[in-house]
Amino acid sequence: MLCLLNSTRPEWVEIAASEINTLLIDHAHCEKKAAYNALVMIQRYPDKVDIVQEMIEILKEEWDHFERVYALIRKSDIHLTKDSGDEYAKSLSEHIRKQEPDRMLDMLLVDALIEARSCERFSLLSQSDLISKDLREFYTELFASEAGHYRTFTDLARIYFPADIVKMRLQELLEWDKPLSQRNDFWEEYEGKIQALELLISKS
Ligand SMILES: [Fe+2]
Ligand SMILES: [Fe+2]
Repeated sequence: MLCLLNSTRPEWVEIAASEINTLLIDHAHCEKKAAYNALVMIQRYPDKVDIVQEMIEILKEEWDHFERVYALIRKSDIHLTKDSGDEYAKSLSEHIRKQEPDRMLDMLLVDALIEARSCERFSLLSQSDLISKDLREFYTELFASEAGHYRTFTDLARIYFPADIVKMRLQELLEWDKPLSQRNDFWEEYEGKIQALELLISKS
């Protein structure tokens, strides 16, 4: 899938499909953070015209995704719970260098990887007959949108940095991403979120 060096564990889609409420809540928070991240990029790089221009578009699209996932949450008669964080994005962000212009390159490429991983998981969901047809269509549409975002972030990196530097750094970040989506603690974290939600539902 795209540039990724490994695939999400195959059990992920089965667990996600069997716990749609957790999936939707987790997904809504991811879209909210993607929109917020576009604002952060504008705040940090206001003089970079291409970045600002593209972030305006990404912000609108991610906020639209958030609105649509939130509508599905309400339709399922549940509500958004507190954001319990995203260890995957946090671990990847630890590799962002502190000094500019390295920082800008790393931020663009970490964003690209997060988009690529979302895209991979939406693709899995869009092909799963364990979820409803409506949800499959929704994830098919989002898959295309997130693939576009992946391209936007890598194109931006190539506008501001030489292609060979971008390629080399992307390879390094991919090596760090490789074990992340397979790590047991992330898997356990996801299962923990499911248990917490089940507890909440049983109490309400
Ligand atoms: Fe999105
Ligand atoms: Fe995105």
